[in-house]
Amino acid sequence: MEILLKGLLRLEYRGYDSAGVGIDGGNGKEWEANARSIQLIKQSGKVKALDDEITKQQDMDMDVEFDVHLGIAHTRWATHGAPSPVNSHPQRSDKSNEFIVIHNGIITNYKDLRKFLESKGYEFESETDTETIAKLVKYMYDNRESEDLSFATLVERVTQQLEGAFVLVFKSVHYPGEAVGTRRGGPLLIGVKSDHKLSTDHIPILYRSCTCCVSNVLYCMSPAGKDKKGCPTLPRMEQDTCHTLFAEDKKSVEYYFASDASAVIEHTNRVIFLEDDDVAAVTNGRLTIHRIKRTAGDHPARAIQTLQMELQQIMKGNYSSFMQKEIFEQPESVVNTMRGRVNFDDNTVILGGLKDHIKEIQRCRRLILIACGTSYHAGVATRQVLEELTELPVMVELASDFLDRNTPVFRDDVCFFISQSGETADSLMALHYCKERGALTVGVTNTVGSSISRETDCGVHINAGPEIGVASTKAYTSQFVALIMFALLMCDDRISMQPRRREIIQGLRVLPDLIKEVLSLDDEIQRLAAELYQQKSVLIMGRGYHYATCLEGALKIKEITYMHSEGILAGELKHGPLALVDKLMPVIMIIMRDHTYTKCQNALQQVVARSGRPIVICDKDDYETAKSSSRTIKVPHCVDCLQGVLSVIPLQLLSFHLAVLRGFDVDFPRNLAKSVTVE
Ligand code: M6R
Repeated sequence: MEILLKGLLRLEYRGYDSAGVGIDGGNGKEWEANARSIQLIKQSGKVKALDDEITKQQDMDMDVEFDVHLGIAHTRWATHGAPSPVNSHPQRSDKSNEFIVIHNGIITNYKDLRKFLESKGYEFESETDTETIAKLVKYMYDNRESEDLSFATLVERVTQQLEGAFVLVFKSVHYPGEAVGTRRGGPLLIGVKSDHKLSTDHIPILYRSCTCCVSNVLYCMSPAGKDKKGCPTLPRMEQDTCHTLFAEDKKSVEYYFASDASAVIEHTNRVIFLEDDDVAAVTNGRLTIHRIKRTAGDHPARAIQTLQMELQQIMKGNYSSFMQKEIFEQPESVVNTMRGRVNFDDNTVILGGLKDHIKEIQRCRRLILIACGTSYHAGVATRQVLEELTELPVMVELASDFLDRNTPVFRDDVCFFISQSGETADSLMALHYCKERGALTVGVTNTVGSSISRETDCGVHINAGPEIGVASTKAYTSQFVALIMFALLMCDDRISMQPRRREIIQGLRVLPDLIKEVLSLDDEIQRLAAELYQQKSVLIMGRGYHYATCLEGALKIKEITYMHSEGILAGELKHGPLALVDKLMPVIMIIMRDHTYTKCQNALQQVVARSGRPIVICDKDDYETAKSSSRTIKVPHCVDCLQGVLSVIPLQLLSFHLAVLRGFDVDFPRNLAKSVTVE
């Protein structure tokens, strides 16, 4: 129970509104003697509320010992039905909890399934789509054709009936001590912990049927296992051990199924990332991975990977919130993004994940950057320098809109998917869309093993370290730097570009120190927040390289302070937004000494002429701007295309302090989740 609750706490940052656990009930002896039962405890609210509810249980003996046991736990973010104990997961097949299931995602055909199951006499107790899965598995079990149907096969059959996105873990009284997990369109990993040597570091996949012949036996693809036609000829696998993972003493092994590495990292750093439609089963301490059929391009095994993540990275340390910690980590996180990639002495850039594709990218017809939220802003922030250094047309697209428009995509396009989590449903769907049309796909993510990083043809890990705060901060600046590195790589053999490349690379060299300098403004920004926190609205204006900063600053303010905030392109002021300006409206303007300087000065005058009293984020040596503004936040100067990394930090700090002063939980903004794995 402690492991389950701790795991849920580690996932709290992803956002949720209710939680639940399902564990082995009864006492150990009875259980082993086959008098099995499953106990469910569910509660709305925080994990703490669930913990309190567990403590209240009279009939739960915490001292029972089991040789083999399985518990499942879940935090739910309501999509179908309000947050309530009955709508929380695990969902169950029936009142005696024969099958229970936890689910991330949305089942789009749940209404049809529910109608079918109701016609078979099943009574539903919740409003969730997930309950149909629990009932369907029981229906299929009760109507099985033979007694020896395995749990994995049963789950495979169930998933064949499901449409939509899902990550599922099942538990059943009919399969005591067994766990089955599967995924389609969401992340699922398995942590493996054992003090003993493991039987293998690659688990070959077991296929149920062969696409090139009519066999319908379990087989795994090893190089030796093919006949002349290439059909698998391996023997039936039930007795075989080549495809299972177990500990050498065949006993002491723990498996952790989780949607995110942070839930397992304190137990183990050895993990297996499952692919869509993998069905992973643990039976008697052995793990097997199944797929229904082999399709072209499938990798025939899943590797056990060693994660570099440290527990400390997902702890708050001395900071009051993860967001604050992550803002202050930026001097190091941008260094980590550049580490081993940028050589400041010879002005070269190497991106290992792109090296085999860079020639193809250089020949492409356009670059399309696709993302959501903050990651989209990183695309907006770097678009201009990408256009400049690649001399290619660059489109920056919000993933949802890109899909709504059925945007034309061609084989000679290169599509970038920028995503901190690598799991954002809209971005992932846009990735599938672009792959279907033959474009080369490039991932820019912060999460090793994420769907986007695995499904793209090539990519760049931004290496910012785990970002726990729902409000994205260090991921933004690292995405920014990663895209700049890509732009530099694209023009490394262009003689005419060398002076500009050198200027930018030397700018990257000093960037971490300049970030530190901006962070030292924290007290000043806190005082500013104290003046603003009771306002209803904040407008943020800028143009050129800083338009993205305006959008990102406004998003941060909306997201965690619940104040209205709007990022406004200063060039659009007189086309409408100027009407909002008066002496009461809080306005923040970003004015830097780049090619837009004069135009920004004009915008400043227009705002001042309407009695506006803008707070200006400007270059620390810009005396002219300081003269005509009532208040300035002075940041150090750096090369124009990197200045956006510096201009965004005061707004990150401002949003943080505003949220604290307004009394909100900075890391858990209402209605939002860290990974948006549903459309
Ligand atoms: O994980 P992703 O970068 O794909 O997430 C996209 C957005 O949901 C995310 O950037 C969101 O806008 C941030 N939480 C805002 O701070």
